[in-house]
Amino acid sequence: MKIDFQAPEFIANPYPVYAQLREQSPVYLLEPKVWLVTRYHDAEYLLKSPLLDKDIPSAFNQRYGRNMNDEPVYRMHNDFWASMNSPSRRKLVVKALNAGKMSDLRVLAQESAKQLVDKWITRKQADLMQVFACPFPVQVICNLLNIELEQSLDFLAEIKLIARSGEPKLLDATELETSNAAALRLDSFFRKICRERRKQPGDDLISQLLTAEEDGECLSEDEIISNLIILFMAGYGTTANALCNILRLLFLYPDQRELLLAKPELLTCAVEEGLRFSTSAPITFFVAVESFELQGVQIASGDTIYLALDSANHDPEIFVEPDRFWIDRPPTVKKLLSFGQGSHYCLGAKLGVLMLEVALETLFRRLPNLTIDNVEQLTWEPTWVFKSLESLPARW
Ligand code: HEM
Repeated sequence: MKIDFQAPEFIANPYPVYAQLREQSPVYLLEPKVWLVTRYHDAEYLLKSPLLDKDIPSAFNQRYGRNMNDEPVYRMHNDFWASMNSPSRRKLVVKALNAGKMSDLRVLAQESAKQLVDKWITRKQADLMQVFACPFPVQVICNLLNIELEQSLDFLAEIKLIARSGEPKLLDATELETSNAAALRLDSFFRKICRERRKQPGDDLISQLLTAEEDGECLSEDEIISNLIILFMAGYGTTANALCNILRLLFLYPDQRELLLAKPELLTCAVEEGLRFSTSAPITFFVAVESFELQGVQIASGDTIYLALDSANHDPEIFVEPDRFWIDRPPTVKKLLSFGQGSHYCLGAKLGVLMLEVALETLFRRLPNLTIDNVEQLTWEPTWVFKSLESLPARW
């Protein structure tokens, strides 16, 4: 079976192809030594098993054919993975992230949403991706860190430059130079703030990371800085795109939007169903640490395994009528896989859901006449690794 994963038809609607793959070729050879796993049970099994590892630094080195630790942007990735791959160091980041109360976070997110909507509500039309979905999570994370959004850097622009380094397409020399420059600017910005917070700690996430300690272990300054930058990277695009994807679904299926407006208590279910149906991070990848067999296919140690989380989320073995967007769908025994599972489960899952809830609640309350232009013809960014609309033109 030959599949063009870059084809616009696949990017817009991958589910018929995924159904065929789950049926006929559940462990599919993407290219030599690179596999795609599409069934829920297989993806869940692998996410929880020690057969796979997230050795991203080696994967970068292998893909570029040289040691990428010499490049500032990849050194930052490596420092981040040093803490994510060590259970005790990862625990320190989790501890710092969970130090604030969720109720406080909700108030903080509501305040951020209000400030943003106030800026453009009188305009009556805009691209919701630009004016709201992208800046909203950045503003919430800035609040969490207690840093001013417009302090001295355009965070969104800098993070977008850095995010390119995590995409499957290799960076050319100019792109690498641009990403490195952004990494260095953010590095010196956060290094200065870390020094200030060491002298004068507060109850923000940076101060929590600086003081987090367990069994005599704490995070190095390089690790803290890379974690702060990657938290932005991992948290802003995923949340912004998830918000646009959910809004698109709610306008594509007006009966579901009306149901939500009539029963606001379904908000959490609507967010969950949106994340199941059209998640913003549809693929994750790992490296096999030993050889093993899956569905009759022999996988060698060192092979790369892509897990199609959105295919798993549409697996009829788990979800009744999986291709139906259904905000009050009957509960399933198994969880959606949009945040992964196991030792690398998304660190910001709770925060992401909270931001999506606050964003939807704010938009529907403040813009009661909200409509999306040509909702059936919206176009997708040309990548299957992120599920991302190009824009979300709206009026109210
Ligand atoms: C709706 C929004 C979000 C979605 C759909 C999402 C999805 C994911 C997925 C699929 C993974 C990979 C899991 C794996 O490979 O096993 C992940 C990891 C991660 N996410 Fe999220 N995420 C979201 C929001 C956030 C937010 C808001 C933050 C932080 C502020 C965040 C921080 C992280 C981090 C640090 C990791 C790496 C964890 C590790 O490898 O140990 N995410 N996320």
